[in-house]
Amino acid sequence: MPEIKDLVKGLADTHGRTRESLIPILQGVITHENYISDEAMTEIARELDISAAQVYGTATFYSFLDTQPRGKYVIRVCKTITCAMKGKNLIIQELEDLLKVKLGETTPNRKFSLLETNCLGWCHKGPAMLINDEAYTELTPEKVREIINEYIKK
Ligand code: FES
Repeated sequence: MPEIKDLVKGLADTHGRTRESLIPILQGVITHENYISDEAMTEIARELDISAAQVYGTATFYSFLDTQPRGKYVIRVCKTITCAMKGKNLIIQELEDLLKVKLGETTPNRKFSLLETNCLGWCHKGPAMLINDEAYTELTPEKVREIINEYIKK
C-alpha cells in the first residue's frame, strides 16, 4: 500500500531511523491508522533496517497491537515498577472514576480507552501516561482531572 509506505517514510524522516525512533513511529502509525497493520510493520522494519520480528515484539510489548476497536483517545498508564511505586494505582483509580470505565475498557461514546502499558522511559518523572502519542508525567489525581477535562472538551 503506497500510503502506508509514505506515512512510515514521513514518520522516519521526522523521528529518525534509530532504535529509539521505533516507538514514536509506531505511535505515529496508530495516530493515523488506528492500528498497526502487517504492511506497516514491514515498512517500519525496512526503514529502520531491523527485523519485522523486532518491530512486532516492541509493538506487542507496548500493547500497541490493539485487536479491539479503541476510543479516539487511548490512555496508556505505565505499570512498570518506578511508576507503580510512585502511585500509578491512584492515577488509574482517578481515570476509572472520571471516565466511568475499568482498565481495558472503552467509554460507550468511543472517546476514551483506558489501558496499562510497560515503561515509557519517563521513570524519573513518574507516574507517567500516554494519551495517543502525547506523554504526561509527574501525574497526580488533580493533574489527571485537569488533563482529562481538556480532552473531554475536544
Ligand atoms: Fe513508568 Fe518507566 S517505570 S515510565
